[in-house]
Amino acid sequence: MSVLLTNIGELVTNDPGHGGGLGVVTVAAVVVDAGRIAWTGPAASAPAADVAVDLGGRCVIPGFVDSHSHTVFAGDRSAEFAARMTGEPYTGGGIATTVAATRAAGDDILRARGQALVREMLAQGTTTVEIKSGYGQDIATEARTLRIARELTPETTYLGAHTVPAEYADDRPGYLRLVTGPMLAACAPHARWIDVFCEPAAPTAFDEDESRAVLRAGLRAGLLARVHGNQLSAGPGVRLAVEVGAASVDHCTHLTDADVDALAGSWSAGSGSSTGSDGDTGPDTGHGTVATLLPAVEFSTRSPYPDARRLLAAGVPVALATDCNPGSGYSSSMPFVVALAVREMRMSPVEALWSATAGGAAALRRDDVGHLRVGARADLTVLDAPSHTYLAYRPGVPLVSEVWKDGARV
Ligand code: NIG
Ligand code: FE
Repeated sequence: MSVLLTNIGELVTNDPGHGGGLGVVTVAAVVVDAGRIAWTGPAASAPAADVAVDLGGRCVIPGFVDSHSHTVFAGDRSAEFAARMTGEPYTGGGIATTVAATRAAGDDILRARGQALVREMLAQGTTTVEIKSGYGQDIATEARTLRIARELTPETTYLGAHTVPAEYADDRPGYLRLVTGPMLAACAPHARWIDVFCEPAAPTAFDEDESRAVLRAGLRAGLLARVHGNQLSAGPGVRLAVEVGAASVDHCTHLTDADVDALAGSWSAGSGSSTGSDGDTGPDTGHGTVATLLPAVEFSTRSPYPDARRLLAAGVPVALATDCNPGSGYSSSMPFVVALAVREMRMSPVEALWSATAGGAAALRRDDVGHLRVGARADLTVLDAPSHTYLAYRPGVPLVSEVWKDGARV
């Protein structure tokens, strides 16, 4: 059954066929058929469909693609947040609190939390979400976290190398052997991605050599790479992400000129790193490394925001994501992230919306979401607003009035 969505005041398609920028069509219509976009254009020239829905002049955008979250966990860290707001710094040390609670929680508790957060995201216009493990840090808990995450999204990421758990504090090599050996074997069947918290400035996170070993083991197991890098200090994360052909390096709060150059260079034709002397799968050339910015983390850790303008000026594709997690930032809201990006990082409303949709899709190497070109998944977010600018113009206001996923209103 085909559906005509018509009387759309402003339609954002991210389709260059509708002109530059966001491919905006005013007084527009969309035809959805079999879960996919079948047609977009001016309402006056829309083809007939089995059913017509009048959207009353509201704005339609592609569903948000939240390419970075940690939404399967147990426990509560609101006291850590309160302490931070009265002066404590964020170091990543609180991750151990969530690990203890997650290990102790049954599958039903983890599933309920994950489902509730994904539902919360959907209500705020997010139709594609990535979910990481990393609060288990033992074989059984990492594997069940990913199994539960897989029930919620195909975009699952094995982050056994989030931090070194307390029982391995005196045996980092032992934990690395676990993460790159039996834990990887147990987790890879439930994961699409491998990730590592590469942050030499945090004592329980991973340095360059350790991070490289984790990523290369994941690539050998058939996973694709993404990296937590340069969050708390300038470090090797970005360089390493480009070296292994990661789809994205996330945080990018502290970057050197060389980091920005490396990211930009990853997108030039024929670039892409070596496949490594041990025969690891190399990067897919033509796909560089996206810089994913997570400004809700800087908001919630009261830290300086990443320099989005510097990345954009260098031609680096930028994604925006929530990083929804109990420690560094517990917001599930892409509209909030868009507002922060515009107000605090000086992205234009156009740039921010692109980064929250098409940018997130690039960070997940997905071409079926993040845009509304013909053939795309019919994942649409309807805003109770005349234009997408309202996302930043009316911060904190619940503007998402309906969401369509795979061609059906949810
Ligand atoms: O992306 N940087 C590391 N991991 C998470 C935070 C995890 C936590 O504090 O629980 C992040 O910020
Ligand atoms: Fe994260």
